[in-house]
Amino acid sequence: MDQIVIRGGQRLKGRIPISGAKNAALTLLPCALLTDEPLTLRNLPRLADVDGFGHLLNQLGCSTTIEGSRPEDFGRVMTARATTLTSTVAPYDIVRKMRASILVLGPLLARAGEATVSLPGGCAIGNRPIDLHLKALEAFGAEIELASGYVKASAPGGRLAGGKFTFPVVSVGATENAVMAAVLAKGTCILENAAREPEIVDLCNCLVAMGAEIDGIGTETLTIEGVDRLHGATYRVMADRIEAGSYACAAVITEGDVELVGAKADEMEATLAALREAGATVEETKAGIRVAMSGRAQPVTLSTAPYPGFATDMQAQFMAMATLGTGASLFTETIFENRYMHVPELARMGCDIDVRGRSAVVRGVEKLIGAPVMATDLRASMSLIIAGLAAEGQTEVNRVYHLDRGYERLEEKLQAVGADIERISAG
Ligand code: EPZ
Repeated sequence: MDQIVIRGGQRLKGRIPISGAKNAALTLLPCALLTDEPLTLRNLPRLADVDGFGHLLNQLGCSTTIEGSRPEDFGRVMTARATTLTSTVAPYDIVRKMRASILVLGPLLARAGEATVSLPGGCAIGNRPIDLHLKALEAFGAEIELASGYVKASAPGGRLAGGKFTFPVVSVGATENAVMAAVLAKGTCILENAAREPEIVDLCNCLVAMGAEIDGIGTETLTIEGVDRLHGATYRVMADRIEAGSYACAAVITEGDVELVGAKADEMEATLAALREAGATVEETKAGIRVAMSGRAQPVTLSTAPYPGFATDMQAQFMAMATLGTGASLFTETIFENRYMHVPELARMGCDIDVRGRSAVVRGVEKLIGAPVMATDLRASMSLIIAGLAAEGQTEVNRVYHLDRGYERLEEKLQAVGADIERISAG
């Protein structure tokens, strides 16, 4: 398994290109199943999860072709076309490796009137149930059966009728599955207390470009008028607000000055507010967002929440940034039940973090010491990189396959702004 080795202490200075958003790409790709025409996605990030989803689409009979792009380019152009579906089954061996595979459930149900998708199972950060996905689909007329670890869904008469569902808990994935199921329904589908993340807006905008009729985009109430068919489209994936926020934390902890090229301030206001609370200079530029810092971070008090609140996907990275700050910072993780896996690894580097249930107190220390550490999940692995960039000595981050799921060419992007970082391939 590859390792990333960092010799800390370099201030990050320069421009970091922000790639297409992983969590937008993973809900845009299944949209190709909704039509027999080609869907072309631009600015698609080169990520393991994107490759994995392409493989799943191929298993269902959807062709995927990558248009030529120069090696130095970030992102790719992929055209996916499901002229006919050869399968409506998402098998366990694929779904267990990538939970986002569950996002083929809604599109398959809409296009083929049936879907058999393996239950994704839990992951490091929580047990990740999909009950809300299933309840929303049932509200639109789907019949759902759970058997031998699979969800078997069908639409009576081959087409969802329409209906109304109010989410008791905001769920990004369940909102995405419900919207993709609703666009080809016979009637009207209404979702209340829907997730409002920018990735959902990206999904809705892409579906509208394909001919869907969706009102309330960006709000918590989505009204989808079902249409008989969708057509192809060309759509550009939004910039990754979590990648941008992650590099912003790296800039702050190294007292650097970076420009996050392509980042959109209006998609990450809670993150930018938290950076300012930590004492960073944050300003919009023509090309993106500039984040600069001198001195140690001020203490922050952050509680994760659904968008537009502070993103749970930013919690581990901010915690790493706070470890070298002054005073004590308080984090509360309200979304997932086990999203502090980075804490024991950060402690190996000399961080002073006290976890009490859903909350964690981070007391700033004068210095961190580089050490061998283990990545446990995607955002935890980024928090270790951030700490390693500021630690004295060498940090080796193991199991970087976690990182490769969500950060395109991370070491190249960091080398370009002065980090002493390299990937050691295990062969
Ligand atoms: C998406 O996961 C993201 N993944 C996650 O990013 C992100 O952390 C999460 O949304 C929250 O923003 C992708 O977009 C691929 P949820 P998702 O459904 O859809 C509970 C990353 O690091 N819930 O919004 O799985 C659930 O247990 C990843 O990029 C149910 O109870 O998250 C959680 O407590 C990690 N029943 C809460 O809702 C359900 O049916 C929010 O989960 C579904 C969810």
